[in-house]
Amino acid sequence: MPSLYKQLGLGAAGSPVNASHLLMLVLGAGFLAFTVFVVHPNDFRLQSFFSGACPGSPPHDPVLAPVNATPKAKAATTTPVKAPDGHPGVRVLIGIQTMPGKYERRHLLRTVYALQLQEHPALAGAVDVRFVFCNVTSAVDAVLVALEIMRYGDVIVLDCAENMDGGKTYDFFATAARAFPDGAYDYVMKADDDTYLRLPALAAWMAGAAREDAYLGLQMPCDRENFYPFPPFMSGMGYALSWDLVRWVASSEVSRRDRVGPEDMWTGRWLNVAGKAKNRYDGAPRMYNYLGSSPANCFRRGFRPDTIAVHMLKDAGRWAETLAYFNATAALPPSALYHLP
Ligand SMILES: *[C@@H]1O[C@H](CO)[C@@H](O)[C@H](O)[C@H]1NC(C)=O
Ligand SMILES: *[C@@H]1O[C@H](CO)[C@@H](O)[C@H](O)[C@H]1NC(C)=O
Repeated sequence: MPSLYKQLGLGAAGSPVNASHLLMLVLGAGFLAFTVFVVHPNDFRLQSFFSGACPGSPPHDPVLAPVNATPKAKAATTTPVKAPDGHPGVRVLIGIQTMPGKYERRHLLRTVYALQLQEHPALAGAVDVRFVFCNVTSAVDAVLVALEIMRYGDVIVLDCAENMDGGKTYDFFATAARAFPDGAYDYVMKADDDTYLRLPALAAWMAGAAREDAYLGLQMPCDRENFYPFPPFMSGMGYALSWDLVRWVASSEVSRRDRVGPEDMWTGRWLNVAGKAKNRYDGAPRMYNYLGSSPANCFRRGFRPDTIAVHMLKDAGRWAETLAYFNATAALPPSALYHLP
């Protein structure tokens, strides 16, 4: 795999996944080969293994066409289903993975999403944004987080020890499957706390997608340089599973036995190994990493008006630039009480 050096170089500079993925990639590739060829030979599908939006593969409508992960992939509805009151016709739980101590980031994200829902009231009953972390271990955080829960009610504390790739995503899906009744949500999405989601675009995308056996996100690998030829998975910046797949993850031995690893690659792996998620939707080019001064590629690009999600917003400057581009503050009324440049 000659591209591993490039992946290493990209780890800090804007790869859609984390630097620790590299080691796990190497370890995982071997294990995967064992799993698919030895343990699950019948579940192994060459097509799903290597399909993806790579150079050389046929161009596809990036938004509406499902990635043909298996021959049975269904065509997506092209028109989002919209109820007369503007309700997008789809209900989604978004779990933003973060850490107890990241108060400032939570404050920003709460503000950003509350304003989006205020501007699109029909979405307020359709999209629930929650902050997700593992057990709170500091006595200080225990008090301050309890205060936030009392005020906002938007925090989910999982029964796990805080770590990046130690099964937190598995715990999130399993907890969601247990905690919410069937029918409460059509999709459950995992997102990073450095991802900016545009909820109306996201909901409209989901509304046009299959409600079952569906997996939406920015599909990797998307070129032959990064994560190639790892089997397809949706980048951890933000991906959604239909409710039946959430229940499947919560109850399957495939996922329970194989929880520890780079969470996004591993989610893709469970689904690939079990022949699940026949309806895949690649968010490229509408989901991407913040460009900055890095060269553009299939997962990192400049802002575009039809954006669903921007990832790698690591600092206040990037958030400010992104929010300004998307006119998040355009509705601010003038007032004698403040003056902003
Ligand atoms: C998380 O906290 C709960 C309640 O304090 C405790 O029972 C559980 O063992 C903890 N889990 C982990 C993985 O640390
Ligand atoms: C932001 O507002 C400007 C001015 O009205 C407009 O030209 C531009 O298209 C808007 N940008 C987006 C991403 O909607």
